[in-house]
Amino acid sequence: DPVESLKVRAPVVTIMGHVDHGKTSLLDALRGTDVVAGESGGITQHIGAYQVTTKGGDIITFLDTPGHEAFSEMRARGANVTDIVILVVAADDGLMPQTIEAINHTKAAGVPMIVAINKCDKPEANPQKVRERLLEHEIVVEDMGGDVQDVQVSALKKTGLDELIEKILLQAEVMELTANPDRAAEGNVIEAQLDKGRGAVATVLVRKGTLKVGDTFVIGAESGKVRALVNDKGQQVKFAGPSVPVEVLGLSGVPMAGDQMTVVENEARAREVAAYRQEQ
Ligand code: GTP
Ligand code: NA
Ligand code: MG
Repeated sequence: DPVESLKVRAPVVTIMGHVDHGKTSLLDALRGTDVVAGESGGITQHIGAYQVTTKGGDIITFLDTPGHEAFSEMRARGANVTDIVILVVAADDGLMPQTIEAINHTKAAGVPMIVAINKCDKPEANPQKVRERLLEHEIVVEDMGGDVQDVQVSALKKTGLDELIEKILLQAEVMELTANPDRAAEGNVIEAQLDKGRGAVATVLVRKGTLKVGDTFVIGAESGKVRALVNDKGQQVKFAGPSVPVEVLGLSGVPMAGDQMTVVENEARAREVAAYRQEQ
């Protein structure tokens, strides 16, 4: 094998925390969008995968999870796609059951965590109490003499966002995240569904290589040929490199979250790999 040429890739950041603590609002504030307003009952039903370009031109990939289930389910299927977890804790509500579950899932995955103490605009916000309660779960933030980064934010007032971005980029730098973009693509399904007009559609996070329109692939035990790629802004694109989430059209069936996508040289090879995977 020739030596692979590794290039810096964007960090993949998963946002976790208790229901209604402001995960989607925080991401909306970072992206300048309003996804929350369009959600039925204000509840996130599916995983959102987005890229944010910072003021300094760095790119960060964010996954917004409806619950820790999605994270643990993907991990159970062997897809450790997350580089960094942002634990969102509402400063008025404090540590709640799903906060603690998210902490445990993050620890089990061995992924570094940054704590975003949200809703700091509220008069009843008590960020210090959050830091103290985190100690009970062996999460020691810098202020308390530990090495977990924390930042006080308000998704509503859009405060603390630059500091949060800074901390993510700093953590990513330490991790030296790289991938080879010049090879056949590999990725993981973030979510998939049957779309009325478009057929089976999977949101895939490319891990290495570059996925292109026309590529032949296997996802789980399904094969296909990329008919179209749609980015997180709803635009059709010709290709997607490492850490880029894209919707893939041209699947023969609906795969499962966490399934591996592998680009292969031709359809005969795709059928072979799919048949092999079906036997597993
Ligand atoms: P689920 O996806 O349903 O688990 O919720 P979530 O964690 O994504 O929370 P979401 O962004 O839907 O926000 C829940 C509620 O908190 C909404 O009414 C938001 O407007 C509100 N909220 C979010 N961030 C802030 C904040 O910084 N300050 C205040 N005052 N309210 C906030
Ligand atoms: Na919500
Ligand atoms: Mg949400």
